[in-house]
Amino acid sequence: MPEVQTKVKENGIAGEVASRRTFAIISHPDAGKTTLTEKLLLYGGAIHEAGSIKQRKAARHAASDWMAIEQERGISVTSSVLRFEKDGIRYNLLDTPGHKDFSEDTFRTLIAADCALMVIDVAKGVEEQTEKLFEVCRLRKIPVITFVNKCDRPGMEPLEVLSNIEEKLGVTAIPASWPIGYGADFQGVYDLIGKELNLYKKNKHGALKADAELLPLEQGLEESTLGQAAREAYFEELELIGDEFDAMDRGQFQNGEASPVFFGSALNNFGLDLFLNYFRELAPAPKPYENDKGELHNLEKDFSGFVFKLQANMNPEHRDCTAFVRVTSGMFKRGMEVKLADNGRKLRMATPHSLMGEERKLLDTAYPGDIVALFNPGDFRIGSTLYYGEPVNFDVIPLFSPEHFRKATSKDPFKRKQLREGLKQLSEEGVVNVFEVPGGVGNELLLGTVGALQFEVVEHRMKTEYKAEINLTPTTYIAARWLPDDEKVIAKLKAAYSTNVTFDIEGHPIVLFESMYALNTAVEAVGEENLLRFKK
Ligand code: G4P
Repeated sequence: MPEVQTKVKENGIAGEVASRRTFAIISHPDAGKTTLTEKLLLYGGAIHEAGSIKQRKAARHAASDWMAIEQERGISVTSSVLRFEKDGIRYNLLDTPGHKDFSEDTFRTLIAADCALMVIDVAKGVEEQTEKLFEVCRLRKIPVITFVNKCDRPGMEPLEVLSNIEEKLGVTAIPASWPIGYGADFQGVYDLIGKELNLYKKNKHGALKADAELLPLEQGLEESTLGQAAREAYFEELELIGDEFDAMDRGQFQNGEASPVFFGSALNNFGLDLFLNYFRELAPAPKPYENDKGELHNLEKDFSGFVFKLQANMNPEHRDCTAFVRVTSGMFKRGMEVKLADNGRKLRMATPHSLMGEERKLLDTAYPGDIVALFNPGDFRIGSTLYYGEPVNFDVIPLFSPEHFRKATSKDPFKRKQLREGLKQLSEEGVVNVFEVPGGVGNELLLGTVGALQFEVVEHRMKTEYKAEINLTPTTYIAARWLPDDEKVIAKLKAAYSTNVTFDIEGHPIVLFESMYALNTAVEAVGEENLLRFKK
């Protein structure tokens, strides 16, 4: 095999980086994420007529050989990667499961994205799931761009939506477009950046791009169906908003403290062309990640990347496992030999793939921001670093503290070893948190997840992959927090919660709570900073 070239011509990497946007969509189920994703593909030129993804969502039973549970339930358990190119920009869209029970996977996907697109239903405002996901964006300080969807339906007034975002999320909401007409009368948006009114016409139930007429404000209002009083009210509203977007502090936006807000309807394609044009300008190009020494790893160094997701059994025939790697520096090339930072093992990148939903294509090269799908040789874990040349290690994926708990025992008492080994592996893969039962005996373990449906994944995978059928029984725990390696803190908590301090399967101390009252009392006793929601 010839030596693989890893350096590209001057400015090569910088040029590739500048032309990429890697983002994830966050939303509460039903806000319209699937519809908007599909429409972005339509406007991005990746598909010519919308309908296929939604059909696939509905016909998942038949169409996909995805995980069995996903088929049984007809929901999306796992995140996939979608890609499109428009006007010289490569967009990597990291799709995330909509079902609330699979939010942990969504959390990790956000770590691999450079910014988030937040979709909100105009009638419901910011919902619970979005609040949680936003916390991860805040943790990572990534910019969030908001799309207020379903403006063709009755909902909150636009000013009310902005207040709702600010109150629920503590960010400054900066309008970038403004809807004209509400509900059934919704006919377009005023572009507060380009200062033009975009009036739309519906077509073919939104399967094709909507025809837009771009007009100066006054002329546009005259051509709209708004009556005189409504036009005057519209002018007043615009005056009230003023030039907020122009005055937006870019630094605040880059840190996720201010979010530009666009209004529209994904179903009818209203406001999407305008949104995508500005999204290109607003969304940042891939940024360097911090290595485990806290230094920013230069994007132009040799290839490096980290695993943000492991997906087992994408093809049940082969019992395979796919690792999704976010490229963090340099050029990735098919055939190159890289090292796994965890153990120094050398790996030849013989069959890297790119994924478009569930479709795979052999991949020749990839650059920072791109996602490469690799066959997992067995020793990848969530967060593993791969590199070429100079060693580097990233430690960017935290574990999220569980909210649902079950006690696990083996149905067959002679299979205790399989129980422990199987669960340990699933814990390393990031499917479930595994703890010693406080004061328990060795033949049972405590499982914790962010979403309750994840227990079904564990049961299913233990049975099919580890040949160990398990019994899961409910517990009284409702929350958990990891503890710092500080004897004093641990002693203080043990004094109050002697029976609830335990260790995870890797030996890190953790405290379990049976009520919010107990959790709040602990916060008062040792401080929030000593009760960790995320474990690195
Ligand atoms: P999700 O992925 O966030 O869960 O949401 P999804 O896109 O599946 O949309 C949820 C529902 O909201 C769908 O209706 C979808 O058609 C509808 N929807 C999405 N965007 C808009 C919009 O801009 N305006 C209106 N009025 N509706 C919108 P459904 O009845 O559940 O499904 P379907 O019968 O349309 O497939």
